Amino acid sequence: MTEQLSNHISVLQTRAGEISIEEMLEQLALSYPGQVCFSTSFSWEDQIITHYILSNNLPIKIFTLDTGRLFPETYSVWSRTIERYNATIDVYYPDNSLLQPFVTEKGPNSFYEAPENRIGCCHIRKVEPLRRALKGNSIWVTGLRAEHSPNRHDLQPFEWDEVNGLIKYHPIVRWSTEEVKSFIAKYNIPYNILHDRGFVSIGCQPCTRAIKQGEDFRAGRWWWEDSGKKECGLHVHGAGI
Ligand code: ADX
Ligand code: SF4
Repeated sequence: MTEQLSNHISVLQTRAGEISIEEMLEQLALSYPGQVCFSTSFSWEDQIITHYILSNNLPIKIFTLDTGRLFPETYSVWSRTIERYNATIDVYYPDNSLLQPFVTEKGPNSFYEAPENRIGCCHIRKVEPLRRALKGNSIWVTGLRAEHSPNRHDLQPFEWDEVNGLIKYHPIVRWSTEEVKSFIAKYNIPYNILHDRGFVSIGCQPCTRAIKQGEDFRAGRWWWEDSGKKECGLHVHGAGI
């Protein structure tokens, strides 16, 4: 990262502490016309950001990565969101020329068998489509929260994404689960009903389970793997985790 970029990110960091989320999103959309995008997995964090964008008519592209292995409940909240806000949500699918040979060779559930299969599946179904979705953008807005995982504890609202060559903005990174829940209730925002059944962080159906009280938030993701490696490659922070 250049010194100029680092200074720019520091300025944005300070600004994020001074103005509201809608003001920050609006300023970014004005400063980077047509180059601000938001990725949604329809988690309740993402639904909050969708609400900020759509209820303020902000010119920010909203997109989702449909891995083909999402929960029926996720497709349901996706539909309800389009209806509620009369919204356009762009969808990106895995590249068939990568997916077809992978599944043909390894079978549909190879992610349980070896870490390299899991990483390969996440790469084909999420990371490669993400690269296409981010192309041409300068700012990538996400619903990441520090509370979600030890890897994310020191996350700041703004960070430089070396891999994708853009600035990431995490508007609700410091929010608590209680704040998230009460915002959803206050504005009657459609949300994934799995959140009411012990699911905290929701990804693909075969790789996500509910967590028990007291368990780490990420315990329900790729639970058969070593806890230090619970990232799918969408988000690569500082030390390359
Ligand atoms: S992951 O890295 O473990 O898969 P997580 O579920 O915590 O991600 O979500 C963090 C953020 O990543 C979300 O707020 C969203 O911005 C983005 N994200 C995760 N999954 C998807 C998806 N399927 N489509 C679009 N964005 C996603
Ligand atoms: Fe494949 Fe599971 Fe990764 Fe989804 S979370 S892309 S099903 S390995």
